[in-house]
Amino acid sequence: MKVEKLQVDKAVGEVGKVLTEEQRARALLIHALQEIQKAHNYLPEDELKKLSRKLGIPLSEIYSTATFYKQFYFAPRGRNVACVCTGTACHVRGAGDILEAFEQEFGISEGETTEDKSLTLETVGCVGCCGLAPVVTVNEEVVGEVTRERFSEIVRDVRRRK
Ligand code: FES
Repeated sequence: MKVEKLQVDKAVGEVGKVLTEEQRARALLIHALQEIQKAHNYLPEDELKKLSRKLGIPLSEIYSTATFYKQFYFAPRGRNVACVCTGTACHVRGAGDILEAFEQEFGISEGETTEDKSLTLETVGCVGCCGLAPVVTVNEEVVGEVTRERFSEIVRDVRRRK
């Protein structure tokens, strides 16, 4: 989404008729952040500055809102995102070793992206399928019972999708 093309009244819809101008702008903030991230894969500072001017919301408040949610990113992300579950069940079944294996294999730490932008490595508290522990998600795919062999397959797939 181009911030310049954002039409506040149209985006807020009918409910906007009972809102003040400021309320309409604030009602749109999360949606606008989601659209910017969809377009760029993260929230570039320039886009947030434009959004601040467009909505009349101070940049500091935009950052305050965006940093509250884990779903928003402030640096470019990889084309692949591997997320190691470090919840209790996965922790007990070796999540730490899996995380370390990712870090060694790709030369990055949790929360970082490889220089070639092929992979971002993250952790999560629980994916909700503890019976499959240890669990890793790769993009939208859930991989359970991650053994050394499965880890190698994940690495192969990520390198293939470079
Ligand atoms: S703790 Fe890993 S899926 Fe629940």
